[in-house]
Amino acid sequence: MEVPYSYLKEQFSSPDAILADVKKLVQSGDFTLGKALEEFEKKFASYLGAKYAIGVGTGTDALRLSLMAAGIKPGDEVITAANTFYSTAAAIATVGARPVFVDVDDSLLMNPGLIEKAITKKTKAIIPVHLHGLLCEMKKISVIAKKHDLVIIEDSCQSLGAMIEGKKAGTFGLTGCFSFHPLKPLNVWGDAGMVVTDSDAVKDRILLLRNNGLKNRDECEEYAYNCRMDTLQAVVGNHLIGDLDKVLDAKIANANYYDKELSKIKQIKVPARNSKNRYVFHNYVVFAEKRDELIDYLKKKGVTAKIHYPIPLHLQKASKYLGYKAGDFPVAEAQAKKIISLPVHQYITKEQREFVVKMIKEFYK
Ligand SMILES: Cc1ncc(COP(=O)(O)O)c(C=O)c1O
Repeated sequence: MEVPYSYLKEQFSSPDAILADVKKLVQSGDFTLGKALEEFEKKFASYLGAKYAIGVGTGTDALRLSLMAAGIKPGDEVITAANTFYSTAAAIATVGARPVFVDVDDSLLMNPGLIEKAITKKTKAIIPVHLHGLLCEMKKISVIAKKHDLVIIEDSCQSLGAMIEGKKAGTFGLTGCFSFHPLKPLNVWGDAGMVVTDSDAVKDRILLLRNNGLKNRDECEEYAYNCRMDTLQAVVGNHLIGDLDKVLDAKIANANYYDKELSKIKQIKVPARNSKNRYVFHNYVVFAEKRDELIDYLKKKGVTAKIHYPIPLHLQKASKYLGYKAGDFPVAEAQAKKIISLPVHQYITKEQREFVVKMIKEFYK
């Protein structure tokens, strides 16, 4: 049996309805900051329960523009997790600020107990990353941010639809940042991203920053970027957003099955979960003994498993100038050797997920 990690072929096997709207867009010429984008921004804000949503080019743009709108400047320090996707640190670094990493805990996410030790006079913001569709401890992080007068920018790129006691990821901070990359929970036909915020001032600044600093056609307030979300991608987004919760529920059902079955295998450890949270399992990640051998075994049996991510950020070449070394974030480093991501997408059948568990049991026998 084949159990692929990717779902794109199945997801867009009947694209006619989307293509019909793309055709209308092409015929209207409404490509830039068009009506479909406005519609998508409204739907997105309403889905999140946020006041504003602003479409930008990528999730990385969402983070970078959020940092700029929050007033982060060259020389400032921004705290984030050592095990995030590279873009989080890239956004911090490319606005001229210094990424400061903290270690994670057994939930796979930023350990709030370590944040205060990382705060210096230069610290201006924290970017908690809700990696894998999991959820950071936003209550604890918010208390620390308030105490030290720090801005929170949530990297929610992998956690659209996740909730902490009913409140959506991305609505706790000054902004929440989302990606619509093809491998994300809501995935368009290329790159796109979104910033959500309840702040009028932040919304106004991001509207400027994404559009060359233009106040109107002929007046430029500040030199900025061109990173608007394409209207064409918003056409795709408008088609997908209505079914988002159905997609997430299917993934959650697969993850719940894995949690139940894999917790019976002593060589597998399921990360700590909080029963009050709605995790959306962008990746389904557990800790596995003999991880690399297990991945090879599963591959031979037709199951694709992956590692997100094999090298923590402080050990990347790009981080060399920050002066970190092996051993600085022992939990993230140890986890990088044990984590395995199993196929969890919405098209996995009952038979497929049972097969995955059967093959894991067979491997450890
Ligand atoms: C955690 C995280 N942050 C940021 C990004 C950046 O998003 P994008 O690829 O749309 O720039 C991604 C996705 O790639 C991500 O997974």
